[in-house]
Amino acid sequence: MLRLNPSTLSQAFGQQLLDGGAHLKPVFEQKLLPLISARLLDPSLQRSNSGSIGLGSALSLYLASHRRAPKLIAEVGTYIGNSAAAMACGAGMAQQAVQLITCDMHPCTQQPLAGLSLPEGSKAQVVQGTSTKMFEFLTSKGAKLDMLHLDGRLMKDDIKLLSQLLKADTLIALDDCEGDEKGHMNLDLLRRAGLIQKHAFVEPFPRELFRRWSLETRSVTGFLVPLSSISFTRQ
Ligand SMILES: C[S@@+](CC[C@H](N)C(=O)[O-])C[C@H]1O[C@@H](n2cnc3c(N)ncnc32)[C@H](O)[C@@H]1O
Repeated sequence: MLRLNPSTLSQAFGQQLLDGGAHLKPVFEQKLLPLISARLLDPSLQRSNSGSIGLGSALSLYLASHRRAPKLIAEVGTYIGNSAAAMACGAGMAQQAVQLITCDMHPCTQQPLAGLSLPEGSKAQVVQGTSTKMFEFLTSKGAKLDMLHLDGRLMKDDIKLLSQLLKADTLIALDDCEGDEKGHMNLDLLRRAGLIQKHAFVEPFPRELFRRWSLETRSVTGFLVPLSSISFTRQ
């Protein structure tokens, strides 16, 4: 009778994040946005063969991270650190220390959280190497992830490591979820490995949703939302 699909979930999740996040708007506009723009304009941070996330994806990560309030975030694909900053900034707004570990196999910033004021005890670790190297390190510590952002391509050996790192309530964000870009490839790998049976895929938020914050932008960030975090309410 009622069917929910990645598109209807996207409308609902995006609307709730944007409407419920009005108190987060000043920090986004006055802190995160200038920091992200400055990094994009800094030639010393750029490589010709890569790109950073766009405004809509940064806002999506910021709001979703605030809602999930992760203590431990892992990321594949550091580059200039804008996605890392967006997630840490959102998590930090929940007033608890956030630990972020991010990796890149190519040259990248070593200070993804520079310029942010985060709760005491917050820290970032940059692994200069592959996702497999980072996931091996995390499993050796017995870590469990609250949030995972994939902005690189998963490697063959990552899957069995992720089976130890993911929890039923890990929020997973996937960049480049359009066409046959890497977001859908990563989604397919996770699905085939049976790692996301307790998650629902949410398409990138539609362009019109961002107009609620007077932004003319789009997102290519999809989410895998834990089913346990979806509830029915009377109001
Ligand atoms: C699109 S860029 C990341 C942008 C970054 N998230 C930001 O907001 O600035 C993707 C990066 O992922 C790295 N990468 C791709 N696959 C990877 C993997 N399996 N392990 C480590 N790094 C990877 C690439 O070297 C590239 O620098």
